[in-house]
Amino acid sequence: MNPTDSDRDVHAPNSHDSFAGRRAPSHRATRARRDLDRALDAAAALFREIHLGWEDRPLTPAPEWYDSAPLAHTLGPLGVGLVAAVEDFRTRVLPGALGAPDPRYVGLVNSSPLPAGPLADLLISALDNNCGAEHQGPSGAAAEREVLRVFGRLFMDRDNVSGLVLPGGSLANLHGILLARARAFPEWESGGPASVPGRPTLYLSDATHFSGARAGTAAGIGREGVRSVPTDGRGSIRVDELRRMIDDDRASGHLPFAVIATAGTTGTGAFDPVSEIADVAKAEDLWLHVDACYGGAARLLPELTPRFAGLERADSIAIDPHKWFFLPLTCSLVLTRGSTASLNPFDIENSYIPRGTDVYPYQRGILTSRRGMALALWMTLRAHGFDLIRDVVAENIRLTRRLEARLASAGFEVLPDGELSVACARWVPPELEPDEVDRLQGRIAERVLAADRAWFSTVRHAGHTWCRLNILNLDTSEAHVDDIADAMVEAARTPAVSRRSRSGRTR
Ligand SMILES: Cc1ncc(COP(=O)(O)O)c(C=O)c1O
Repeated sequence: MNPTDSDRDVHAPNSHDSFAGRRAPSHRATRARRDLDRALDAAAALFREIHLGWEDRPLTPAPEWYDSAPLAHTLGPLGVGLVAAVEDFRTRVLPGALGAPDPRYVGLVNSSPLPAGPLADLLISALDNNCGAEHQGPSGAAAEREVLRVFGRLFMDRDNVSGLVLPGGSLANLHGILLARARAFPEWESGGPASVPGRPTLYLSDATHFSGARAGTAAGIGREGVRSVPTDGRGSIRVDELRRMIDDDRASGHLPFAVIATAGTTGTGAFDPVSEIADVAKAEDLWLHVDACYGGAARLLPELTPRFAGLERADSIAIDPHKWFFLPLTCSLVLTRGSTASLNPFDIENSYIPRGTDVYPYQRGILTSRRGMALALWMTLRAHGFDLIRDVVAENIRLTRRLEARLASAGFEVLPDGELSVACARWVPPELEPDEVDRLQGRIAERVLAADRAWFSTVRHAGHTWCRLNILNLDTSEAHVDDIADAMVEAARTPAVSRRSRSGRTR
């Protein structure tokens, strides 16, 4: 649908830069609402175009979309009207969006959303309930309780979990570490870090997502308080090293208080041995936080159940439904044991929000105003169910193993023992020096992207650079995977040339 002149305000915003002296006529809000029907039709058509049309567009936006050009000077005192703004979204925003939900995107830990999530997002915004306090959005709070119940069953094997829906796994990790600090150092909550008689230390592995270390520094323990334990194999924490480091730290007068285990590392999709780490945490009286942001959805697969053993002993768990549960960004969860509910460093008195008998979500976390994020998760699970998600997760894993097999048979070195949907592979021409081999992997990724056949990145693991391909997609098929493998082989065999990428970076 093209906007007509009458859709656009006669005073286009970029022709009037000043807000001074303007008073919006009272009919303007009325007119904005009157246009809603036509705008909804246009938005519905655009929704279909976005949701179903990724493969018809290039994976990467054209270079001009990497600066602000298409959106520069589009804002000013007057609006263009709803219908024209929807059209602007189609022409100015959509071509500048990376095709992360595209089945050829096998890059960072981004998924494609099931349709219920984006639809729920529209309705949640229309309700505009503030889900910080139950009295402002009872159904949003009820949805949160229900999703915590089902995820608590799935991950902690019990109903009485506490927790929150949060906008991002990084915040879910931070939430867990702040609770850990509050449990270990109650004096910190009143007296701050000076009241603690030593250096609090947090343990994670060198393969833990960086948000774990950031949670430590944000919690005020300093970079030196974050201990990075070495890994082996595909990137699983060495529990013997964990024990040794804790002993050494205690001998030095430091104060170990928490450990993060990962169920599905970002780089290689490895599992830490959660059960063994839980034993260490128990023996050492540490808080156990599990980062299941990426791998969590694999808990739905019976064959991977043993990899999640020990999660029921965690004090807190971070899960990202916006990753492998196919929710749109952002929707994350932190689950905590019901028994730790009394531990609440976040509840600060105020006199203006009515209190109830329950502790409301805004009192249990950092956020005050809260979008009804739980409703998007509730609606997605209500519409599509867990079984559909389980089947797509299983298919993504099957396709990853197929991709590895094709790359291996074409001569790539493939990182063995993959269980999740991350494939790591490297092309190693014998005549190249090790650092040239490392650089070649990046060039392979860039060449495949330049040919518009896939988006993926590289990762450092075990002293080498690997092509890292990660499938979290509803539509990636055997045909896609086979084409990606072929494109990688062609790219690997192409002699090096220096040129500019679509994003403007030198390849
Ligand atoms: C294992 C893991 N933990 C935490 C995060 C951070 O999650 P978010 O991007 O939702 O903040 C990621 C992101 O990829 C991840 O892979």
